[in-house]
Amino acid sequence: MTVPTLTLNDGKTIPQLGFGVFKVDPEETERIVTDALEVGYRHIDTAAVYGNEEGVGRAIAKSGIARDELFVTTKLWNDRHGADESKRALGESLEKLGLDHVDLYLIHWPTPENNNSVETWEAFPSYRDQGLTTSIGVSNFDHRYLPQILDTGIIPAVDQIECHPQFQQIETRPLLTEHDIKVEAWGPLGQGKVDYADTVIGEIASAHGKSWAQTIIRWHLQRGHVVFPKSNNRDRMAQNFDVFDFELTTAEVAAIDGLENGGRVSGDPAEVN
Ligand SMILES: NC(=O)c1ccc[n+]([C@@H]2O[C@H](COP(=O)([O-])OP(=O)(O)OC[C@H]3O[C@@H](n4cnc5c(N)ncnc54)[C@H](OP(=O)(O)O)[C@@H]3O)[C@@H](O)[C@H]2O)c1
Repeated sequence: MTVPTLTLNDGKTIPQLGFGVFKVDPEETERIVTDALEVGYRHIDTAAVYGNEEGVGRAIAKSGIARDELFVTTKLWNDRHGADESKRALGESLEKLGLDHVDLYLIHWPTPENNNSVETWEAFPSYRDQGLTTSIGVSNFDHRYLPQILDTGIIPAVDQIECHPQFQQIETRPLLTEHDIKVEAWGPLGQGKVDYADTVIGEIASAHGKSWAQTIIRWHLQRGHVVFPKSNNRDRMAQNFDVFDFELTTAEVAAIDGLENGGRVSGDPAEVN
């Protein structure tokens, strides 16, 4: 199965479906990412703070898959902001991953208390120029924090942000659309904390002979999001990858859109420092 790609505002492409490794135990990461690569995923989303970059790197090295067939993202943690410090942090991530570059490097959170995400962001193009990352972006910069980033004139390729049917980032979306910044939907399944099977999603899933999770992933794809569900379980990894043989109708997409209720399942960027 070839996963569709999206073209970013810097002209680079990204596989629209990937595999996320938040809360994947570092001891188990090599096995789990190996499973994901065997299932067919070629886009892996990790972060320095997940503590599992080494396991991701070992799985990649062992796989024998050509580097240019893989898309790897990692993220700068909150205590490494600043121009010099972020460069050191990126170097450490690359060493742990065993790579000479990542495909996408993100500021993980705006950390308003630190008040230096703009200075940090202004250093990011140099990492791209030095070939340490192909694309640059931000994460968790919603309508309250994105304007300061845009004011620098350096436009992120993506904003990786909590996004699932009941929390669709309604206030931030117009800015993202205006600047052609792709939504990377984190917590795409609501982190398993919302009973989506018991909503209209369950009915739509039955109509297509698919699971509630596959139905939500399909909704993300049709909404133009980049999405990388996490699973420790190989059967669920395969299920989440098996989403290219059905299509939601316009009415079904609209019905899922209608589940928006402002309900986050995880941290508010104003409070994560
Ligand atoms: N930038 C950020 O601040 C940020 C924050 C959070 C996440 N992320 C990224 O986004 C990725 C995805 O988000 P997430 O891991 O938080 O949550 P998620 O993908 O929405 O949900 C993961 C949960 O759903 C379960 N699950 C997965 N597939 C399933 C299926 N087919 N049926 C039933 N349950 C299923 C998993 O359990 P099992 O493992 O048991 O299958 C796990 O408990 C992360 O791994 C990470 O890469 C980024």
